[in-house]
Amino acid sequence: MKAIEVKTSRPYKVLLGSGLIASAGNLIKEVIKAPRLMVITDDIVVALYGEIVRNSLIEAGYEVDFFIIENGEKSKSLPVYGAILDYLADKAYTRTDAIVALGGGVVGDLAGFVAATYLRGIEFVQIPTTLLSQIDSSVGGKTAIDLDAGKNLVGAFWQPSLVIADVDTLQSLPDKEIENGLGELIKYACLIGGETFDIVANGFGKALERVIELSIQYKRDIVEADEKENGVRTFLNLGHTLAHGIEQLSGYSFTHGKAVSLGIIAIAKAQLKLNKLSQTDYDKLLSLYELYGLDTELPYGISELVKVACVDKKASGKNIKLVVMDGIGNCRVQNTALDALEEYFK
Ligand SMILES: NC(=O)c1ccc[n+]([C@@H]2O[C@H](COP(=O)([O-])OP(=O)(O)OC[C@H]3O[C@@H](n4cnc5c(N)ncnc54)[C@H](O)[C@@H]3O)[C@@H](O)[C@H]2O)c1
Ligand SMILES: [Zn+2]
Repeated sequence: MKAIEVKTSRPYKVLLGSGLIASAGNLIKEVIKAPRLMVITDDIVVALYGEIVRNSLIEAGYEVDFFIIENGEKSKSLPVYGAILDYLADKAYTRTDAIVALGGGVVGDLAGFVAATYLRGIEFVQIPTTLLSQIDSSVGGKTAIDLDAGKNLVGAFWQPSLVIADVDTLQSLPDKEIENGLGELIKYACLIGGETFDIVANGFGKALERVIELSIQYKRDIVEADEKENGVRTFLNLGHTLAHGIEQLSGYSFTHGKAVSLGIIAIAKAQLKLNKLSQTDYDKLLSLYELYGLDTELPYGISELVKVACVDKKASGKNIKLVVMDGIGNCRVQNTALDALEEYFK
């Protein structure tokens, strides 16, 4: 088991390894003294890992309740959020009790926001069970729910007290969810370069745990430097400007990860055309896309995509902070005027 320390305003550890959920109770016990834990999970994850986690928490001496949401983004909503708060209040959960988020990013974001706000904030533990949530959403303390007007419009920065990333849980992930995580993995490969890029470019296989570790370490460094996203945390948005547009125009039939992978290759093409990215690096990236059978052509016209990107909440004023790639492992934030964006991608 690896322990990665995250030194944010409230420091915590990310534990990474095999077979960890079976000892979740004892691992949590070292950090959280709460007598009661409310496990928030979804219908798919509870069927796979609910029992093993429940038993481990009970064995460690916790009193345990479960709140099971329907799987999928739709549950990151005000009604579901409200129902969980009511359930906590009905059961008389106090400030010394805690929340456990068992599942992917949907569960993590929702349960984290519940923890951030119930009684003005109680402790919580993340047990991420998707590739995306292990490399990205479970670390860093961003919690949120969606509104009809858009994704993640209500939320809080609230760091977990512990993250338990058990790589064995990834074995039950359907292909679509691997593809979803792959988009973010390619993002890290491009941001970090070096060993991270090489592992992803070689089809990770046995090095999956190592590449998850490298991704978490990178995210940790970024989050430590910029906990509230005022600066370098923007780097994590590589490929995301167009990705949000693609997701929205497809009515969310494209996974986030697939959209991110398309957003990244579009940036690479633009940089190549501007002679800011070498042909060698571009070709390396292209072979990675070939290896995973990923599309490299945008599914929508650039003007349409840019229009959607411009109403995105990450666009501030007349400029957008576009993350561009000058080389693999060499990215930079470029302030780009919204009306120059279409030209940039053309
Ligand atoms: N907070 C952040 O920093 C951050 C970063 C990136 C993404 N996010 C958020 O994360 C969410 C997406 O997360 P996600 O991709 O993990 O989606 P998800 O939580 O919806 O999980 C995807 C699907 O996989 C299922 N699943 C989960 N674990 C499984 C397992 N081990 N085996 C089989 N099936 C399993 C789930 O039931 C679900 O149907 C989005 O809402 C996004 O906004 C947050
Ligand atoms: Zn993302």
